[in-house]
Amino acid sequence: MTTTLDRDKSFTLADADFNFICEYVYDSAGIVLNASKREMVYRRLTRIIRERKLPTFSAYCQLLKTKPEQEQTYFINAITTNLTSFFREQHHFDFMKQHELPRLMKAKANNGKRIRIWSSASSTGEEPYSIAITLFDTLKDKLNNWNVKILATDIDSNVLATGKAGIYEERRIEDVPLKFKKEYFQQGTNDNADKVKVDKRLQKLITFKQLNLLHEWPMKGPLDIIFCRNVIIYFDKATQQDLFERYYDLLAPGGLLILGHSENLGQYNQYFENVGRTIFRKPME
Ligand SMILES: C[S@@+](CC[C@H](N)C(=O)[O-])C[C@H]1O[C@@H](n2cnc3c(N)ncnc32)[C@H](O)[C@@H]1O
Repeated sequence: MTTTLDRDKSFTLADADFNFICEYVYDSAGIVLNASKREMVYRRLTRIIRERKLPTFSAYCQLLKTKPEQEQTYFINAITTNLTSFFREQHHFDFMKQHELPRLMKAKANNGKRIRIWSSASSTGEEPYSIAITLFDTLKDKLNNWNVKILATDIDSNVLATGKAGIYEERRIEDVPLKFKKEYFQQGTNDNADKVKVDKRLQKLITFKQLNLLHEWPMKGPLDIIFCRNVIIYFDKATQQDLFERYYDLLAPGGLLILGHSENLGQYNQYFENVGRTIFRKPME
């Protein structure tokens, strides 16, 4: 009898194939994989290898080389780590509510009433929906008279589809405050009784689009707040610095760049003012 584990172990990931995979993922997504990620790569890719009924990792690498247009999306979707949650790092949303949105409302009340926010590695959508809830919770009825948009992008097409659909297992909103649960999530019925759907008002604020941060960014600034949380940890220093420069250029004077809990600006620190825990402001001109 073979267990799943035995079956998994029937594939061998040779150094040459692992090195090819590391180079491929770095070139296409900027993600740095090292030896400590070997098991993860093995687990995530054997699924695809089995689906394709391929005999070996080498055969899969060959397929990636010869048919990248067919395979790359599946490969990237399998390799990315999409861990996220509603109101992850709550203090960022508190800062938005207590400081940044009041500041923007004051500054823009007679100046276009336009607010633009970018969730630049949005994963399955919990981050942009948390931003949208914070906007509703802070601006309330005023939101109707304001021109507010959230752009949510990610490289992974699967997670974007989940974000767009806005349907989640109910357990995903366990820690969301009750008043938000009641106001912004609708309980599913019958087969979907264990699921919730986000309110259409939130969905209307958000546009989900596929975007590789390494590629050209089609949107025009200036942006007021950029969330770049828990993604640059996967990149090397050179890629990080390049991104920070591009985020800086896209931000309005006074705009915010928000990073994840274990991330920092490195050398780029000197161009921003640190105004909160992993919250950085581009100086006013
Ligand atoms: C750990 S999740 C972070 C989600 C969310 N920002 C948060 O903090 O909860 C990292 C996301 O970055 C995305 N990602 C990785 N490389 C990327 C790239 N080159 N361009 C755009 N997104 C990328 C992954 O697909 C994944 O969904």
